Amino acid sequence: MGNIDNKVAIVTGGGGGIGGAIVQRFAREGAKLAIADINGAAAQARMKEVADRGTDAIAITSDVTNKKSVEDMVKATLDKWGKLDILVNVAGGASRANVVDIDPDEWDRIVNMNLKSVFLCSQAVLPTMLKAKYGKIVSISSIYGFAGNATRSSYAAAKAGVAVFTKSLALEHVKDGININAIAPGRIETPAVRGHYSDEAWAAAEAQIPMGRTGKPENIASAANFLVQDENNYITGQTIHVNGAWLNW
Ligand SMILES: NC(=O)c1ccc[n+]([C@@H]2O[C@H](COP(=O)([O-])OP(=O)(O)OC[C@H]3O[C@@H](n4cnc5c(N)ncnc54)[C@H](O)[C@@H]3O)[C@@H](O)[C@H]2O)c1
Repeated sequence: MGNIDNKVAIVTGGGGGIGGAIVQRFAREGAKLAIADINGAAAQARMKEVADRGTDAIAITSDVTNKKSVEDMVKATLDKWGKLDILVNVAGGASRANVVDIDPDEWDRIVNMNLKSVFLCSQAVLPTMLKAKYGKIVSISSIYGFAGNATRSSYAAAKAGVAVFTKSLALEHVKDGININAIAPGRIETPAVRGHYSDEAWAAAEAQIPMGRTGKPENIASAANFLVQDENNYITGQTIHVNGAWLNW
């Protein structure tokens, strides 16, 4: 028995590091999983991993910045299971440049990937959740959305937007049986992040964190699992910080 047995969950960015850990955790907890990613091969590989261990799962190639693609993702999930209980918005990413050098199209790309995506996916699942008077939406923000970050201004602004969008949407649906929360990770050791650092730079980055180490994707998956449990349904509109006390703003 898992703690989300038979709940149907969409995980966007499910082919990536944190999304993959959430997929694995939700699978262990008994959920049925729609694993969505713009990288279809990564979504398929993740789907196969959990399906081989008995989880009912589908892989969906989806671009979360595109309304039609997002609607198709939700339709594929509903066609498969006839219900949709949980949405986890994980898809995202950053690029680095000083503001004076940022091309406006690149600004839009990053904000769309991290913030418009959360709007589009939430909008697409809400009619089903409202009808059921039940739903959980969890979106991944970032410590940089609170601390800011030189050279990642577009990303930081978008992730701050995720936190306040979460609060706003939670207020809109506070009496509708839908819990809407965010998680702001600190530095989490995924291939996407670790790949940017030499061993020396990584050690320095770890030393910067009060707990003396980076987080693991499983730490974020655990927080997501906490937020989608019914016994925690008095929590809504919040952003949970998972960062080893790296709160130096
Ligand atoms: N790793 C960290 O330290 C860290 C810290 C704070 C926040 N985050 C956030 O957590 C999330 C996951 O990060 P990660 O480290 O696992 O990165 P990752 O690159 O492994 O995962 C991101 C996934 O999103 C997918 N994706 C990108 N654009 C997409 C689109 N338009 N449509 C659908 N899928 C798309 C990618 O293909 C990838 O599989 C991101 O939102 C990231 O900003 C990560």
